[in-house]
Amino acid sequence: MHEDIDYIIFDEKQIQDRVRELGRQITEDYQELLENSSDGQLLIAVCLLRGAVTFMADLMRAVDIPIEYDFISISSYGDASRPGAVRLIRDLDRPIGGRNVLIVDDIIDTGNTLRYLCQSLLAREPSTIRKCILINKTPRRQVDMSIDYVGFTVEEDLFVVGYGMDYAEKYRNLPHIVALKPGVITR
Ligand code: IMP
Ligand code: MG
Repeated sequence: MHEDIDYIIFDEKQIQDRVRELGRQITEDYQELLENSSDGQLLIAVCLLRGAVTFMADLMRAVDIPIEYDFISISSYGDASRPGAVRLIRDLDRPIGGRNVLIVDDIIDTGNTLRYLCQSLLAREPSTIRKCILINKTPRRQVDMSIDYVGFTVEEDLFVVGYGMDYAEKYRNLPHIVALKPGVITR
């Protein structure tokens, strides 16, 4: 392993097991929701680029109901004078009005990104919005936000990479979720 990496938090097998469970849960819940909805509303998964791509690809294969994909990209300004400010980099390709939307993201930390995304999507009047987040990192939360499907909760203030998640665009292709050594991160 690379010298910046401290230890494995969740290995490949743990991730695959948990992702399959999430897929089963989502399948059951939406089967019910779609059966009880009058006008055959469809389900669309909205994946946040780029960190959630690996999770999305595995999760979707564990979901056993018709589901469409779309992709959106949001970035923080990286401006210390405006903490929590985020902006839209790439919008969805298709409208979501009247649709059931499942947001798929890699990690929630402060919650600012997800709050911005939910506000932006709610304005388009979807039928429902739920959130599926692989890692719920709790210590730095600024926004009170409910999450419908959580892969893992991390209560320590760690910086995690791998399985799609990066530090300065590195480590996305690691098969495990790992912690970076504390000295490596400047944020
Ligand atoms: P939030 O807006 O603070 O909730 O942060 C959301 C985004 O910050 C995530 O979607 C990630 O892209 C990034 N992020 C936050 N914590 C980590 C981490 O530990 N590892 C990798 N990316 C992170
Ligand atoms: Mg992200």
